[in-house]
Amino acid sequence: MMMQPRPQSKLHLINDASREEIDGWVAKYPADQKRGAVMSALRIVQDQNDGSLTADLMDAVAEYLGMQPIEVYEVATFYSMYELKPVGRHKICVCTNISCLLCGSEDVVAHLQTRLGIGLGETTADGKFMLKEVECLGACVDAPMFQIGNKYYEKLTPEKIDAILDALD
Ligand code: FES
Repeated sequence: MMMQPRPQSKLHLINDASREEIDGWVAKYPADQKRGAVMSALRIVQDQNDGSLTADLMDAVAEYLGMQPIEVYEVATFYSMYELKPVGRHKICVCTNISCLLCGSEDVVAHLQTRLGIGLGETTADGKFMLKEVECLGACVDAPMFQIGNKYYEKLTPEKIDAILDALD
């Protein structure tokens, strides 16, 4: 019988800092359930890779957590916080769900599209901003809002949006 070549390990793609962080999440689960850390692991390696995942990185996560690659791909393609292609330096996640919609998220999106010259799901030519539509981020009381990085920006107006973008390098 012909031997299949052994797939190359991709574990080296996960750097030491990411491993340490992933290990912290793995420790929260029973030893035989470390796959429970898959969402955190994907977020961590995505951050390590400037905000997006690659097939190789997903394979590395699968290998690290003892999962099949397809199981990791399923998670990465299901949840909107994972990016499967390179994103701008600042990913603007605009909530367009019901509370934000009622409070003017369409105007927020329109203002951002005009100012940045891109549509939803696109990145500016200089790689600085990506614009993304997302579901409720749990800040409905201060709608309309968007998220950039780990920070929420709420009760948005065109003036406020301009000031926020102007302050980002
Ligand atoms: S609907 Fe926008 S944060 Fe909830």
